[in-house]
Amino acid sequence: MINIVLFGPPGSGKGTQAQNLIEKFNLKQISTGDLFRYNMKNDTELGKLAKSYIDKGELVPDQVTIDMLTDELRKPCNAKGFIFDGFPRTANQTEALENIVKEVLNSSIDICLSLVVDDKMLVERLLKRGETSGRTDDSNKQIITHRIKEYYAKTAEVAELYKQQGKYVEINGVGDIEEISEKLFAEVAKLNNKSSLQN
Ligand code: C5P
Ligand code: MG
Repeated sequence: MINIVLFGPPGSGKGTQAQNLIEKFNLKQISTGDLFRYNMKNDTELGKLAKSYIDKGELVPDQVTIDMLTDELRKPCNAKGFIFDGFPRTANQTEALENIVKEVLNSSIDICLSLVVDDKMLVERLLKRGETSGRTDDSNKQIITHRIKEYYAKTAEVAELYKQQGKYVEINGVGDIEEISEKLFAEVAKLNNKSSLQN
């Protein structure tokens, strides 16, 4: 089993790259942002609560997100592992993820792949995406800037935690989508080689 945290600021390409990774390695993507949007679309209680944070570009409280992720992970599936896209976003969530993966899958996080993109390009990409995404949080520059601020204030430290564990790898997230995917594939392939040596 391979479990990957796909990390990076909003607009760094996590969703796009997760799509390529799941196909290549037969993994399941769990995007907490997508799960919130699904709930918002269906106007569930969880969706209403999430919307009050998401529309402002703020993070939903940890326990709400952690419970939603746990429910999703408990659903049966026959993927070879998971890609966590947009989670963890805080130190608390990072610790919770390790515990949930251990408890539900009897496994652990293998690697944190971090897409690096400068702030100016993030804003440009998100404004562009907002032209078609229909996402309220992509729709104006102020909210976008706030999301990036939240990233530096609360999420960037997640990288430090994975660095301490020797699981953190940075990939340049600017350039051709397929070329970036190839670099990510190479990092995952290294993991596969390591585990086949151990077995
Ligand atoms: O991951 P994505 O960019 O799709 O997330 C959209 C929004 O969902 C975030 O800006 C944030 O408001 C909320 N979110 C969160 N906690 C997470 C993931 C997403 O609060 N772990
Ligand atoms: Mg996304």
